[in-house]
Amino acid sequence: MKKSFSSLIMAGLILFAACSPKPDTSENSSTEGDIHILTNESESIPDNENTSTESAIIQLPPPILYGEMSLEQTLYERRSHRNFAETTLTKEQLSQLLWAAYGISEQTQNLRTAPSAGALYPLEIYSIIGEVSGISAGVYRYNPLEHQLIKVVSGDVRSELRSSTFGNQQMVEIAPLTIFYTTVFERSTARYGERGIMYTHMEVGHSAQNVYLQATALGLGTCAIGAFHEDIVSELLQLSENETPLYLLPVGNLE
Ligand SMILES: Cc1cc2nc3c(=O)[nH]c(=O)nc-3n(C[C@H](O)[C@H](O)[C@H](O)COP(=O)(O)O)c2cc1C
Repeated sequence: MKKSFSSLIMAGLILFAACSPKPDTSENSSTEGDIHILTNESESIPDNENTSTESAIIQLPPPILYGEMSLEQTLYERRSHRNFAETTLTKEQLSQLLWAAYGISEQTQNLRTAPSAGALYPLEIYSIIGEVSGISAGVYRYNPLEHQLIKVVSGDVRSELRSSTFGNQQMVEIAPLTIFYTTVFERSTARYGERGIMYTHMEVGHSAQNVYLQATALGLGTCAIGAFHEDIVSELLQLSENETPLYLLPVGNLE
């Protein structure tokens, strides 16, 4: 009992630190030993016009750090689901999924829930929102440092997104949410050369598995999609020149 209470206190402290505004710094990043501390996640992605206003930023609720399903059961129950109920997700579910994907889990160096070579964090994570309570349909970039969403495209793009997949995969249009990965390869290749490309592909696997497991633990379904036209998706989501799309994970309630 005593132990679980102190765990709760610890969780509260972690959450407070994770969700408190970080001090503004004049430089985007610094390097300590092998670890590159990112102070501005989107250092090499220019904001488009839509992101400059205060209203385009959405603060997510803090993630829950202790769930009910064991890791073993979560692994056992994880499956790719392609059929979703046409029902809304909550902001809390979205918050939990994004935190699992790439959220802060250590505040000194801003380390994440997924490992990253040299802690360079070359991935960007977007939420393509159709039906999430309290958030209008659109495309939002996740800022792990502040646990916030930044709107980059307004409106429901799910139908166009579906058309960009090989075989016109219906689940993308039905799912209330798709988590979408891109990368800025230079964040890793600047240090590791060609190996940085390989590392980045490994890292998106780490992060996407976290989404699979978190979705399972929340009673939701997801399915990895690697089969899509990169150029169509890049245009639809207004990606910057140095961003490469990698992976789609539609998420929804099970039918
Ligand atoms: C890199 C990768 C790409 C995938 N792309 C697709 C896809 O485009 N469409 C799809 O329906 N499933 C896709 N999947 C899901 C696999 O079909 C699925 O993982 C596999 O059938 C095993 O089922 P399970 O995930 O339930 O264990 C992909 C999985 C991976 C790892």
